[in-house]
Amino acid sequence: MIQHVADMDYRPPPGMGGWLPVEATIVNIQPENFNTRTFTLRFVDESLCESYRFEPGQFNMLFVPGVGEAAISISSSPYQIGALDHTIRMVGAVTRGIDRIGVGGIVGVRGPFGRGWPLHKLAGKDVIIVGGGIGLAPLRPLIHWLLRHREQCRRVVLLYGCRSPEDRLYAAELEAWSGRSDLDVLVTVDNADEHWTGPVGVVTNLLRRIKVNAEQTVVFVCGPRVLNRAAAWNFLQLHVPPAQVYVSLERNMNCGFGRCGHCQYGKHFVCRDGPVFCFADIADIFAKEEI
Ligand SMILES: Cc1cc2nc3c(=O)[nH]c(=O)nc-3n(C[C@H](O)[C@H](O)[C@H](O)COP(=O)(O)OP(=O)(O)OC[C@H]3O[C@@H](n4cnc5c(N)ncnc54)[C@H](O)[C@@H]3O)c2cc1C
Ligand code: FES
Repeated sequence: MIQHVADMDYRPPPGMGGWLPVEATIVNIQPENFNTRTFTLRFVDESLCESYRFEPGQFNMLFVPGVGEAAISISSSPYQIGALDHTIRMVGAVTRGIDRIGVGGIVGVRGPFGRGWPLHKLAGKDVIIVGGGIGLAPLRPLIHWLLRHREQCRRVVLLYGCRSPEDRLYAAELEAWSGRSDLDVLVTVDNADEHWTGPVGVVTNLLRRIKVNAEQTVVFVCGPRVLNRAAAWNFLQLHVPPAQVYVSLERNMNCGFGRCGHCQYGKHFVCRDGPVFCFADIADIFAKEEI
């Protein structure tokens, strides 16, 4: 039974913040689109189910025995206790390995790692969330958090873009969010089908449809690199201060907790100092291809 808590404690449970994975059972697999599924995991150790907490935007290292590990964002609500969602696109050995294990099988989990979305920056602000493709996964816990603490901020806007209507993640939930009066949801697709009546084009085009009060807006972006860049520059051009623009970045990970240097990004380690970065802190390296 999934319980919900009123408050959060983000510290990794004892033994989970280092190299050793703990076992979790895949209890459900929800297809999202042709190559992406949401895996619900439940720790074999029941006490971990109770004690594990995470901050929206953090990730776990998921381990497939004999194959390896991959960094995967936690995509469930931070208030869902006892089971953790990870929305995974099947691209390589580990992600396909998790899919092969299937419901009832065991994966290893280390985490939660990294710094998530800065929830303490939202009081009294307009919040604009920009997601592209699977980038909606680490934004989903944030949206759940915002809906729980809705009175703390002013407008909340979700701009989401994906390739086609069938590629949308969390289609039912997006539908439900669209029906709410306290959340503005705009979804755009690159390629429409005959049933699609919404916008067509890249997600940054949606900015023309909303009013941005630059000084009082905080922006959260997660998507492919090209979207992260375009969205960040667009908001800066609209005079949103760099200190109020946050981007979640991806790098190849190994340890996940700042020891191996695999994920170095300029002077930062993405696993430890990110994956969520304030644009003001990475402005000097953000546009450089080779970093
Ligand atoms: C903080 C963070 C959060 C993340 N969150 C998520 C998430 O929520 N969901 C998710 O699905 N992913 C997420 N990722 C990405 C995920 O960690 C990577 O896609 C990971 O590499 C997958 O591991 P894999 O072994 O399945 O694929 P890999 O084998 O590592 O392949 C990854 C990519 O490299 C390509 N590739 C593989 N082998 C080769 C080759 N020989 N030559 C050239 N290209 C190759 C693949 O086509 C694929 O595009 C996240 C990454 C980070 C850093
Ligand atoms: S993955 Fe090892 S330092 Fe970041």
